[in-house]
Amino acid sequence: MKAAFFMRHGGPEVLQYGDVPDPVAGLGELLVDVHAASVNAADWKMRAGSYAPVSRFPYVLGRDFSGFVAALGEGVSDFKVGDPVFAVCDVGQEGAYAEKIAIKAAIVASKPDALSHAECAALALAGLTALVSIEDTLQLARGETILIQGGAGGVAGCAIQLAKHIGARVVTTASAANHAYVRELGADEIIDYRTEDFTHKVSACDAVFDTVGGEVALKSFAVLRSGGRAAFIASGASAPTSPRMDVRAYRPKVGRDRRHLERIIALALSGAVRPPEIRRYPLSDAAAAHAMSEGRHFRGKLVFDMR
Ligand SMILES: NC(=O)c1ccc[n+]([C@@H]2O[C@H](COP(=O)([O-])OP(=O)(O)OC[C@H]3O[C@@H](n4cnc5c(N)ncnc54)[C@H](OP(=O)(O)O)[C@@H]3O)[C@@H](O)[C@H]2O)c1
Repeated sequence: MKAAFFMRHGGPEVLQYGDVPDPVAGLGELLVDVHAASVNAADWKMRAGSYAPVSRFPYVLGRDFSGFVAALGEGVSDFKVGDPVFAVCDVGQEGAYAEKIAIKAAIVASKPDALSHAECAALALAGLTALVSIEDTLQLARGETILIQGGAGGVAGCAIQLAKHIGARVVTTASAANHAYVRELGADEIIDYRTEDFTHKVSACDAVFDTVGGEVALKSFAVLRSGGRAAFIASGASAPTSPRMDVRAYRPKVGRDRRHLERIIALALSGAVRPPEIRRYPLSDAAAAHAMSEGRHFRGKLVFDMR
């Protein structure tokens, strides 16, 4: 099968497009013909060697995808060949930048006809992360105010819509070119982080959801009310240490299960959360997609059309 892979860590240029062996569905697994796979920031961090170094090559990246069931492994009875499905790979598994992937059936969900493969791939990990962060971790409530850092990104775009659906007031940060986009997603107040210091523009928030990391994450504590809570997904495996005793800091635990994917789809079908803006690439252009993602100033999601 065709795949995008790397043989050593490095910049986007180490990504190659070529043939790798087909995967086989094991016990409890599905083999899926991948039609679309998305780019996540974790992909280029993995490629660059920022996480634990890879020792087996060729290494195929890719954490979420959408396609059709091509074969069933032993013991799988909840899908049949030809079913449209989408999923987020299990923690520790990758391989969606490829024409086929084998994955545990229990963490796969049905793709509805109303959403395209590209839309499901774009919504998968971004939607799951937003859901776990806003609903499960922050437990955002109607009438609360939340600051969502990095509003134009894939996860934050889902989070803005989810927070509005809950009935919260949403303040977000974005560069001027993305203000119309985040307003369309539902943001009530937008701070141009390039010209304004967000700590001077907003205060006493009930919650913060930070998708930017670094200094932005650390400064975010200042805008919380006493008793407020903050969730961080771009500061590594744990939340940054809070400089305040009167607020709580969380690193959402984004597990994989079918139930959360079905909730994302229900929200999308009801119109509450629409897929982020999508920019499409052929898989043979993986290096260009990584360069774009790594630049960190595009809107929404980058998605590979696999076929
Ligand atoms: N399960 C997980 O834990 C999980 C899952 C997915 C992602 N993540 C992490 O979450 C982070 C966000 O990922 P993502 O894919 O949603 O988006 P992303 O690709 O990391 O971010 C892109 C967006 O960030 C905005 N941005 C960049 N610098 C900013 C700043 N200083 N202030 C405000 N906005 C800024 C850009 O908008 P402008 O052009 O307007 O600047 C751009 O639209 C990444 O670090 C990723 O690794 C974690």
